[in-house]
Amino acid sequence: MAEIKRVLFSEEEIQKKVNELGEEITKDYKGKKVFLLGILKGAVPFMADLMRKIDLDLEYDFMDVSSYEGTASRGEVRILKDISTSIDGKNILIVEDIIDTGVTLSYLSKILSSRGAASIEIVTLLSKPERRKVDLPVKYNGFVIEDEFVIGYGMDFNEKYRGLPYIGILDESQYK
Ligand code: IMP
Ligand code: MG
Repeated sequence: MAEIKRVLFSEEEIQKKVNELGEEITKDYKGKKVFLLGILKGAVPFMADLMRKIDLDLEYDFMDVSSYEGTASRGEVRILKDISTSIDGKNILIVEDIIDTGVTLSYLSKILSSRGAASIEIVTLLSKPERRKVDLPVKYNGFVIEDEFVIGYGMDFNEKYRGLPYIGILDESQYK
């Protein structure tokens, strides 16, 4: 695609990383049940691939908790879609596409712990540590990246590019 400046992670690189994360999670949660909580909409492809690499008794659901407009986080978090099941006593593993400021997940973790989850951990495919505004413990982190806006594999720019099988950097001309 002409608007893509460069491919950051190919389909193969992503799948390799997802396999590794799945194996690690399988080992760490051995003998336990895990509740995968995907954050809409960006985490959908990652969630679908990851769950099939986790060899455990699992259940999953989705929440929509934030709005992200253009290329900057607004720092404002709302629950747009909640889960319908109780999480009391469950081992929650939040599945996120990318962590930027960390505001979204820091807020969400607090809500989930107030609902009595037995444990709450985070798995994210990507992270931009330079941009962090809050301290957020991330147990599983696929790729650490620079402060660049990425698209593809669930991630969008104004709702475009989510369906790409790879992760790329958008050409600056697209922001205008
Ligand atoms: P945070 O609360 O600032 O950590 O926001 C994280 C959310 O912002 C992610 O779940 C994405 O939906 C979105 N986001 C952050 N960086 C990017 C990016 O580079 N491309 C696409 N979406 C992003
Ligand atoms: Mg997201």
